[in-house]
Amino acid sequence: MKPEPFRLERFFATHEFKAPYLLCCSDCESLTIDDLLRFDPNAQERFLSLWLGYTESTGSPELREAIASLYTHNLPDRILVHAGAEEAIFNFMHVTLNPGDHVIVHTPHYQSLGEIAHSIGAQVTEWVGNADQGWSLDLNFLKDRITENTRVVVVNFPHNPTGFLPDISFMSELSKLSDEHGFLIFSDEVYRGLEYLPGHRLPALMDLNERAVSLGVMSKTYGLPGLRIGWIATRNESLYAKLAAFKDYTTICNSAPSEFLATLALDHRDAIVHRNLEIIQSNLQLLNTFFDAHGDMFAWQAPVAGPIAFPMYLGGGSVEHFCRDLEEKAGVLLAPGTLFSAGHDCFRIGFGRRNMSDCLEKLVQFIAN
Ligand SMILES: Cc1ncc(COP(=O)(O)O)c(C=O)c1O
Repeated sequence: MKPEPFRLERFFATHEFKAPYLLCCSDCESLTIDDLLRFDPNAQERFLSLWLGYTESTGSPELREAIASLYTHNLPDRILVHAGAEEAIFNFMHVTLNPGDHVIVHTPHYQSLGEIAHSIGAQVTEWVGNADQGWSLDLNFLKDRITENTRVVVVNFPHNPTGFLPDISFMSELSKLSDEHGFLIFSDEVYRGLEYLPGHRLPALMDLNERAVSLGVMSKTYGLPGLRIGWIATRNESLYAKLAAFKDYTTICNSAPSEFLATLALDHRDAIVHRNLEIIQSNLQLLNTFFDAHGDMFAWQAPVAGPIAFPMYLGGGSVEHFCRDLEEKAGVLLAPGTLFSAGHDCFRIGFGRRNMSDCLEKLVQFIAN
């Protein structure tokens, strides 16, 4: 079966480079190559003399070392670099699933996390967060749905689009269930590092569970989606070997300039993440004020991590109509919840970028008119 069109990505393909005020992006403020090269006085010379032959298919040793240092189990040989998180999702699902297998997916979800499994012929159960309780997940629901065919449970913390983050006891219980029932946990951690309070940061699933896979990327926390560098980190040796072999049929190896720049960015990640969290915090203050003033139109739960949230639209008519009208009349792009697999009366708002106040100002004017 072919995958269904990716609703959110098709929406961005149509609107992202046309709408002047993007208020639903999920990444953080980006940087230029020059910004990155300035982190290190020798970087420009090294970048210009970079050899553009094929690269090591698992990722350059320097990049794998930089990525591995994000985890307690600092294992460069268990890092597999991919073209963005998206390639890693596609490959993981193809390597682990067969028709008839069962997958449970944290929902609402970034569509490929469920759709690739569905296209392979797996049966997909959506594990929907409770919108009335900050989009929290109920472990009893999971326990009741596990069958002997359940191969994979997909989770995404901090969560796109709601910003939900569970606590450590939830993670430990999830890991225990994986060991008891034998399913693999695929943990999408592409927003990890963007917790507003450092104490809220969860351990990576690869550190908690020796068979689990953690997914990371340069796009979100570090604001560098144009590099197209993502990775999986796992202690699961046999799975790692299968994933590495599968990649020979997708990208083989990664872009050398992107690997160089991703290594540089990760070597200076504290400065980049600090900057991004500052942007997020100052935008969140504006959003809290905005939503306080418009409680009749929107239900707002401030998230605890990440650059996105999923407020509910209460203003009458459909959220799709509201978003379309807003774009047509004010040039502001919000992503209606109908693009996601649940939360159809909600919309995604993004606040990781510097121009968010301008976008919000346009939204305020639109509402006032
Ligand atoms: C939860 C989640 N996973 C994976 C991805 C894919 O990331 P990338 O576009 O960098 O491959 C995204 C992108 O929006 C995402 O939000």
